[in-house]
Amino acid sequence: MVDIEQLNPRNEAALRAWWEVGRAATAERPGRPWPVWEQSRVAMTADSPERGVTLLGAIDGREMVGAGLLTRPLRDNLHTAMAFAYVRPDRTREGIGRALVGELEVIAAGDGRTTIQGEAYLPPGGSGGPEAFATALGYDVASREAIKELALSDYLERRDSLAAVAGAAADYRIVTFDTVCPDEHLESFGRLLGMLMSEVPLGELDLSASEWTPERIRAAEQRQVGIGRHVQTAMAMAPDGSVAGVSDVRVDDRDPTHGQVGITLVDPAHRGHRLGLALKVATHDLVAATYPLLVTLDTSNAEVNTWMNAVNEALGYRTIETLLELQKKL
Ligand SMILES: CC(C)(COP(=O)(O)OP(=O)(O)OC[C@H]1O[C@@H](n2cnc3c(N)ncnc32)[C@H](O)[C@@H]1OP(=O)(O)O)[C@@H](O)C(=O)NCCC(=O)NCCS
Repeated sequence: MVDIEQLNPRNEAALRAWWEVGRAATAERPGRPWPVWEQSRVAMTADSPERGVTLLGAIDGREMVGAGLLTRPLRDNLHTAMAFAYVRPDRTREGIGRALVGELEVIAAGDGRTTIQGEAYLPPGGSGGPEAFATALGYDVASREAIKELALSDYLERRDSLAAVAGAAADYRIVTFDTVCPDEHLESFGRLLGMLMSEVPLGELDLSASEWTPERIRAAEQRQVGIGRHVQTAMAMAPDGSVAGVSDVRVDDRDPTHGQVGITLVDPAHRGHRLGLALKVATHDLVAATYPLLVTLDTSNAEVNTWMNAVNEALGYRTIETLLELQKKL
C-alpha cells in the first residue's frame, strides 16, 4: 500500500529522498535532466515571489518510491499550474504515477487552478511510456519542442565566423549584465519581457501575457541572487536607447559545468537585423569567459520556431530529446 504525502522541503532527509527518486526516474535521459543535489537543496527551500511549490512523496513503508511536484505561478496565469511525476524505475506500472498526478490535480484545483500543464520527454521524434502515461491521464499535447545541447568546444570552434555575421547588427549596442538589470534600462527591459508570452510560440498552451513592473523584476532578480543562480544577460539597445532584444544563459554556482538558455526575445519592431544571433553570441561569449569549468549548455524551443532553430543550429546546438508540452483542463 503506497501513501501519497505532502513533504516539507525544509525537512532535508525528505527532500533528499524526493530528489533521489527524481534522479533515478530520469537517469536514462540524455543531457542534464536533473539538477545536482546542492542545487535542488538550495532552490527548493528558498521562497520565490514568482512560483509556489508543492512536493509530494509516494511512500511504501519507510521508502519513497514516487515523487510529485506542483508549481503554481503567483504573479500571472493564476488559472494554471504545472504537475510533474517521477516513479522509481523498479516501481512503475503500479499506479503510483497516476496517484501522484491525481493528488497534484486535487491540490491545484483547491487553489483555483483550472488548467494543468506537464511535460513528457522522449527520444528525438519518438514516442514512448511518458506519452502513453500522459494520454492515459487525459492530457493533450499542446506543443512539441526540441531539447538541444551544445558542447562549448563546438561553439568556440564556430565562434569567429558567427561573430562576423552577428556584426551586421551594427546600429545596435549590446549591453550585458549578471542577473541585475542596470537601473537606466529597467523599464524598457520590463516592456520587452511583457511581450514574452505573446511572442514565443506556445502552441495550444493556455498562457497569457503579464506585466513586468520594475518591482517585480527586482524581486525576481533577488531570488536568483539568493540561490546563487546567475542569469547572464545580453540586451540589444536600439539607437533611441530602448531595449530591442534580450537573451540569457543561466549558470548555477553549485554546478558551473553546465548552462541553460533562459529567454530569447527580439521586439517585432526590431527583427531582421540578426539580433537573435548577436545576442546569443554575446551570452555564449560571456559564459565561456566567466565559467572556465563550463562544458555544455542546453535549450529548448518549439519545433515550429524555425527562426530560433536556425540560430541555435548555427551556434552548434544538437537535438537530444523531444519535449511534449502537455495540458489538461480540469
Ligand atoms: C511516466 C511515469 C511517471 C509513469 O509512472 P507509473 O507509476 O509507471 O504510471 P502508472 O502506473 O500510474 O500508469 C498509469 C497509466 O499510464 C499508462 N502508462 C504508464 N507508463 C506506461 C508505459 N511505459 N507504456 C505504456 N503505457 C504507460 C498506462 O495506461 C498506465 O495504466 P495501466 O498500467 O493500468 O495500463 C514514470 O514512468 C516515470 O517516472 N518516468 C520518468 C519521469 C517522467 O517521464 N515523468 C513524466 C513527466 S513529468
